Amino acid sequence: GAKGDLAGRRVVISAGGTREAIDPVRFIGNRSSGLQGYALARTALARGAEVTLVAANVGLPDPAGARVVRVESAVQLRDAVLAAAGEADVVVMAAAVADFRPVSRATTKIKKTSDDPDPIYLTKNPDILAELGEVRRERRQDGKPYAEVLVGFAAETDDVLANGRAKLARKGCDLLVVNQVGENLAFGRPDNAATVLIADGDPVEIPRGPKEDLAGIVWDLVAARLV
Ligand code: C5P
Repeated sequence: GAKGDLAGRRVVISAGGTREAIDPVRFIGNRSSGLQGYALARTALARGAEVTLVAANVGLPDPAGARVVRVESAVQLRDAVLAAAGEADVVVMAAAVADFRPVSRATTKIKKTSDDPDPIYLTKNPDILAELGEVRRERRQDGKPYAEVLVGFAAETDDVLANGRAKLARKGCDLLVVNQVGENLAFGRPDNAATVLIADGDPVEIPRGPKEDLAGIVWDLVAARLV
């Protein structure tokens, strides 16, 4: 992609992995490092975009020139992404968002007082990408623009194409970057491989390579959809 082909475009990128508090010191989390989301942010900045990076628990330096909003939980990530999405041309949901969170957060550290620990009850988190897809669908019906290009990421272990296609439709996004996970987890690694599913086109295979290269191909596909 040409440098500057995202000039003036406002993009929102979520990165990292959410943490759902159990008590003041403990949480339910995941192994996402934020490397792919940060690579997307750096690449977009280099191509001229205005970048808002919503970072969930990422231990990486802020990309120079990005507006970085730090969040912890899925609900906080949702609020930050939705607040920025109204002004955005592109939203890329690269963050690993917890599907569930504890129903309540203990106000004090849970003690190991009995041999029988209390269960932790979970409740569903909002699906942020699906919500963005739904808001956009409604706004388009009213003839109003909203997040022209919506991109999701998905890790699949089996039936990658069929599961990915169904997910793309369910979430109402334009591109879904599907990682096949298994023994070769992408988490914390500098490289990645994926298949990009496109709502109205043929899938694009991205061979294993640096996360920066994958990011570049994603922005090429995004730029081609921006009018
Ligand atoms: O359904 P699944 O978690 O596989 O979908 C992954 C995609 O959906 C990612 O882009 C992720 O950021 C987004 N997602 C979300 N809200 C959730 C769960 C996932 O936006 N609660």
